[in-house]
Amino acid sequence: MHPMVNPHDWYKDAVFYEVPIRSFCDGNGDGFGDFDGLISKLDYIADLGVTAVWVLPFYPSPLRDDGYDIADYHSVDSRYGDMKDFRRFVTEAHRRNLKVVTELVINHTSVDNAWFQRARMAPKGSSERDFYVWSDTAERFPEARIIFTFTEDSNWAWDEAAGAFYWHRFFSHQPDLNYDNPAVHAAVFEILDYWLSMGVDGLRLDAVPYLYVREGTNGENLPETHAFLKKLRAHVDEHFPGTMLLAEANQWPEDAVVYFGEGDESHMNYHFPLMPRLFMAAALGDRNPIQEILARTPAIPDSAQWGIFVRNHDELTLEMVTDEERAFMLKTYARDPRAPMNVGIRRRLAPLMDNDPRKIRLMLSLLFSLPGSPFLYYGDEIGMGDDLDLPDRDGVRTPMQWDASENAGFSTGPSSALYAPPISDSTYGYSSVNVAAQEADPGSLLNWVREIIAVRSRHDVFGRGIVEWLDAADSAVLAFRLSHGETSILVAINLADRAAECNLPAGFDAFTGAPVAGPTVLEGYEFRWVTAR
Ligand code: NOJ
Repeated sequence: MHPMVNPHDWYKDAVFYEVPIRSFCDGNGDGFGDFDGLISKLDYIADLGVTAVWVLPFYPSPLRDDGYDIADYHSVDSRYGDMKDFRRFVTEAHRRNLKVVTELVINHTSVDNAWFQRARMAPKGSSERDFYVWSDTAERFPEARIIFTFTEDSNWAWDEAAGAFYWHRFFSHQPDLNYDNPAVHAAVFEILDYWLSMGVDGLRLDAVPYLYVREGTNGENLPETHAFLKKLRAHVDEHFPGTMLLAEANQWPEDAVVYFGEGDESHMNYHFPLMPRLFMAAALGDRNPIQEILARTPAIPDSAQWGIFVRNHDELTLEMVTDEERAFMLKTYARDPRAPMNVGIRRRLAPLMDNDPRKIRLMLSLLFSLPGSPFLYYGDEIGMGDDLDLPDRDGVRTPMQWDASENAGFSTGPSSALYAPPISDSTYGYSSVNVAAQEADPGSLLNWVREIIAVRSRHDVFGRGIVEWLDAADSAVLAFRLSHGETSILVAINLADRAAECNLPAGFDAFTGAPVAGPTVLEGYEFRWVTAR
């Protein structure tokens, strides 16, 4: 990193690794991943070359939405450990120069949360009752779409004790908080202070477009929501400078960029519309889906950064595509009738790529090349598979495959105690697909991922560069230059399963150091990074 770089901009040079604690490593043999297990694997994470760990919700929860249904915002679910373990995790991560990103799930709580239990018993019109959004009818806000289309048919649910309907954008067991109540703001700020004062470096703002609801609107991206985010950002800048806020705003580019404000809302936001187009481009062998969506993406403030991802713990969402594109994606990538889920596809990267190592590497080369900061989903670095027989999105959250021993090396407990069985089929099963085997194999996906991250990390232009598109004659080739100050890098990626020619500028191959110049043939799915001479 350049010595003059502002240390508060760390997220611009970051490579994030996403970890559901439950799935990663079980330290006490009870069948659940936990902080102890995670701490024992921090060296593995650091050795990947990533610079930040994003941990999914670990707060007490009935786990009906894998922890995004929070019953208590101030402690650790005992299955994962306790507060001392959490603090130790932060210390140990920092000791390895890894930043820690946790979740601020503030759109909704679990019905088990004491706030909700208090609200349903509290008198109508009281501040306690108004922690949530109530109605006498289930007809209000008809313009708001249903997000979990596979399980919900309304955004309202009846509560007997309250004698009223409560509003929920996700599962009916997840009532939405009421941002018109100032006491909710105070409670949220208090939670934020609580975790940030323990050294957390970044917060993912879950489901942030839906905070406010208003009559006559679809309840997404409302001006009131942005005003609240500005308030949150100002608070963070004042009390915890250097903390990164990451919006989870699954929106079209024009709406997504508004979450950066004028550099006074979130620092980061995922590029949701780009993600499915990476898969489309790979299927078509054509750069246009990628170039079009990036061309349509407005410029963002200097301090802002896109989060780039190919897969995560959710379904591969198809909300930000046209109907025609969605049909294409489903036809191409959801051939198994169990694969569609809500408006998306619940599959991991390797099965989506038919377990073809070249295609998996193509997708990961896009992840690590495109402007922004990449998010790698645990297990994708070894090409883990999924289990379509598990409910909801659990099939992409199976135990991490550490080695070929019982329980994939994930747990020393009895197999029957595991929160979910490890993948054991003949293609993706842990006896062949595991960290230990890939560490021993110089040509493995794992070692390749380590190398691409290492090379990327030597060039801050990836996280900070300005893009200039280069029109290679062959539309299979996605080519662009990233420039930052004196440095620049040329990226050329062949999206097709055939040779394609492109004209490379004079420079050096970033991997081998070999000089390159002029017309070059890229083999099918091959990519090159060329540093200027
Ligand atoms: C977004 C999370 O990524 C997802 O896993 C969760 O189900 C929803 N928020 C609702 O809580």
